Amino acid sequence: MSASWQIWRDRRGRLSPLRIAALALLLLPLAKALFDAGAIAHGARPLNDLIHRAGFWALVFLGVTLAVTPFRRIARYGNLVDVRRMLGVGTFCYIAVHLMLYVADQSYDLGKVVHEISHRVYLIVGGVAWLGLAALAITSTDGMVRRLGGLRWRRLHQAIYAIALLGLIHYFQQTKADVTVPIFAAGLFTWLIGYRVLAWWQAGRELSSLGLAGLAVVVAALVFAGEAVGIAIEFRVSPLRVLGAAFDFDAGIRPGWQVLAAGLAVAVFDVVRARWNSRLARPRTVAAE
Ligand code: HEM
Repeated sequence: MSASWQIWRDRRGRLSPLRIAALALLLLPLAKALFDAGAIAHGARPLNDLIHRAGFWALVFLGVTLAVTPFRRIARYGNLVDVRRMLGVGTFCYIAVHLMLYVADQSYDLGKVVHEISHRVYLIVGGVAWLGLAALAITSTDGMVRRLGGLRWRRLHQAIYAIALLGLIHYFQQTKADVTVPIFAAGLFTWLIGYRVLAWWQAGRELSSLGLAGLAVVVAALVFAGEAVGIAIEFRVSPLRVLGAAFDFDAGIRPGWQVLAAGLAVAVFDVVRARWNSRLARPRTVAAE
């Protein structure tokens, strides 16, 4: 057994390379901010820069946490679930820093903070997501799982999907000009939800490589359609014109293509892992014979 603060050790107290890797991943944005400290300090709004970094990485780690379930299946690496809690709590740490930096940016005037958060729609949305993440972080301990009971705990933690949606809306709302990255992020979250819906629909059976490729195509199509409709409404242009522009690669690669590439890469990875596994399994079958 290891002390609970020794998060780099597994439950048996052994050093866990997987946990160390997850911890290193969680600390990477912090290291990057320290590396960029000079540039941040000499920038126009250092605190605002840090608020953006913390918010962005919180959303990334929220996605990474949600990716554990599909990737432990696709990578045939069930142990991955061992770092899910660490990634989830790490997400909350970034979002806690995000709010603390915001409070600092408001010169620690708590009255003003409450007034702003309750009067600006994007902050109300962020605030609700923040409270949701706090509730999930508080109830993430073994003791809380026992106290709530498995079923109630699982139901509560399903709120993560609504929280992710609110986090994405907050991200879109605060983005002033280019929404390429938020659209790409929304596409990846759609894939993560789509995977779960398909797995549930197939009564928990694994998705085939072909199923994963199909999911990539459907999600990419949704991203193209969503972007076209969004831009059409915002700028009063024809959505078909926006769709046509997706094939103009000189103007940049639209997020729909990026999501398609990421989704197909996952399907290819699934094929490779399946072959690898069957190759490893073959000698054992021969030996059994
Ligand atoms: C009370 C809670 C929150 C407050 C007060 C808050 C505040 C802010 C502020 C002030 C900005 C910068 C806006 C600007 O410069 O105009 C921002 C950006 C952002 N926030 Fe939040 N936020 C909160 C919750 C959240 C949550 C829960 C998430 C994610 C789960 C999140 C993710 C983001 C992201 C992704 C950005 C943009 C980062 C980028 O530019 O790359 N925020 N937030």
